[in-house]
Amino acid sequence: MKTPGPKDKGATARGGGLKISVCLGSPCLASGAAGVLRALRETWGEAPIAVIGTGCMGPCSRGPMIRIERDGHPAAYYERMTPQAACTTVAAHLAGAPPGQGRLAPDFPFIARQTRIVLEQCGRIDPNDLNSARAAGGYRALAHAIGKMTPEQVCGEIGASGLRGRGGGGYPTGTKWELVRAASGRRKYVVANGDEGDPGAFMDRTLMESDPHRLLEGMVIAGYAVGARDGFIFVRGEYPLAAQRLGAAIADAGKAGLLGRNILGSGFSFRIRLRIGAGAFVCGEETALMASVMGRRGQPVIRPPYPAQRGLWGGSTLINNVETFGCIAPIIRNGAAWFRAMGTPGNSGTKVFSISGDVATEGVLEVPLGTPLRELLAMAGGVSGGSFKAAQTGGASGGCIPAGHMDVPVDYESLKGLGTIMGSGGLIVMNDQRCMTDVARFFMHFCQDESCGKCAPCRTGTQQAARLLDRIAAGEATSDDMSQLEQLCRFMQETSLCGLGMAAPTPVLSTLRWFREEYESHVRDRRCPTGVCAMEGVPCRD
Ligand SMILES: Cc1cc2nc3c(=O)[nH]c(=O)nc-3n(C[C@H](O)[C@H](O)[C@H](O)COP(=O)(O)O)c2cc1C
Ligand code: SF4
Ligand code: FES
Repeated sequence: MKTPGPKDKGATARGGGLKISVCLGSPCLASGAAGVLRALRETWGEAPIAVIGTGCMGPCSRGPMIRIERDGHPAAYYERMTPQAACTTVAAHLAGAPPGQGRLAPDFPFIARQTRIVLEQCGRIDPNDLNSARAAGGYRALAHAIGKMTPEQVCGEIGASGLRGRGGGGYPTGTKWELVRAASGRRKYVVANGDEGDPGAFMDRTLMESDPHRLLEGMVIAGYAVGARDGFIFVRGEYPLAAQRLGAAIADAGKAGLLGRNILGSGFSFRIRLRIGAGAFVCGEETALMASVMGRRGQPVIRPPYPAQRGLWGGSTLINNVETFGCIAPIIRNGAAWFRAMGTPGNSGTKVFSISGDVATEGVLEVPLGTPLRELLAMAGGVSGGSFKAAQTGGASGGCIPAGHMDVPVDYESLKGLGTIMGSGGLIVMNDQRCMTDVARFFMHFCQDESCGKCAPCRTGTQQAARLLDRIAAGEATSDDMSQLEQLCRFMQETSLCGLGMAAPTPVLSTLRWFREEYESHVRDRRCPTGVCAMEGVPCRD
């Protein structure tokens, strides 16, 4: 079919107010979004039609995604676009006959049922354009905070919002800010933790790639509130696009007087530098992260002292997760009460989840805290390839939620009650074709590979546990091996130096709690009920 083009002047003339957005998040780029953008710009990129590149729109596995907006009409989302299909789709819109091919239903739950607060501008603004971010309200909260509020008031507002750290632990953010604000010492620091090493987690990458100015704004407000002049963003080495967009955003914000000396003429100065990780999961742990920022070997140290007491170069240091900083500007703009009205008591606001695995749509979802797991699954289009078996939350430090608990409200305490954790928001859905001992084995091998080796319980414990799980998967384990595995897990929880070793047993203990009969089948019957673990040649004991 011939691709309609700008020579079709009649169509172009009728295209007044047409805005075409092409998602340029990493997943969409990997499936060809750059070619789609190029073709649309070459074909339709003339006024009055605007063609812009944005960040993530949400349903990443359906990329390349585009959105077409026209005054007076609801936005139309199209999935799996090719350059040809995108141009044809735009032509049909211009002709007044929007096609159904590739179009997501207007109430497509993955998009329609989100509550986007942190991600509100992701997929809407051009992440490479400061003006686009500012036109959408970027840096208004900063102007308000430094122009109209004292540092104490800013800390108080964050405390009153009930915001809890989104990096996994759920520590009250306002309390942490107040500790750093009240700390003595001339040099203080603000650090954004963008390491995001958990398998299945890609929320922070989405925010850094799609709305880098949101992170910068949150950090500058934090710097003002706690009395710091220097900030660092620690970005995972595997996130080059996030690092590139953040670097450009830092430069642009500096030129616009939003970063650097005398921000917005207020007399307050704050600079931000990037630090790129080198692929170690443990560098997400705050003390290892600080060592890495200072150019030292990224290994954890025992706390206390906590970073707020003694952090970078001995100064009091505020470390927050990227999403935590993403909540700051909306709280300052709309007030603590507005934020508290979302979520549940003790779990205010929204949470971003990256949902992946056996679901119809994989991508990034933001919902109020306390939303039932069942609703998250429904938003992702339900389980694919079989029936629901379990959802894994919290990555390598987390556990599984079995089918009997699909109505659990997703909040910090409810997940803990089921033996798992919220973590930073990775949510891996598994259907009934998955073997749970194999899942536990995968995570233990991950922790073995990522253990920094500083303390023996984790260094040798992960190694031994991985070996026992290998034996179980191979049909070579005895019931003694099972008891040894459980004992080893408890020992590692109690004696490891940092959170990596303490939490490494969680996937094993959680799958033992909910799926013990699968382990027993591997050990007693030498049979993997799902057929995932290859046990050819292993004689049956019966
Ligand atoms: C092994 C390990 C890895 C971690 N990785 C991350 C990470 O990638 N991102 C993150 O924000 N926090 C991570 N944390 C938690 C941080 O140590 C720290 O608690 C967090 O950055 C504080 O931010 P918050 O208060 O905003 O949650 C990790 C902790 C451990 C033990
Ligand atoms: S628990 Fe593991 S990662 Fe943490 S310090 Fe010990 S060896 Fe290193
Ligand atoms: S990266 Fe395109 S929808 Fe997420």
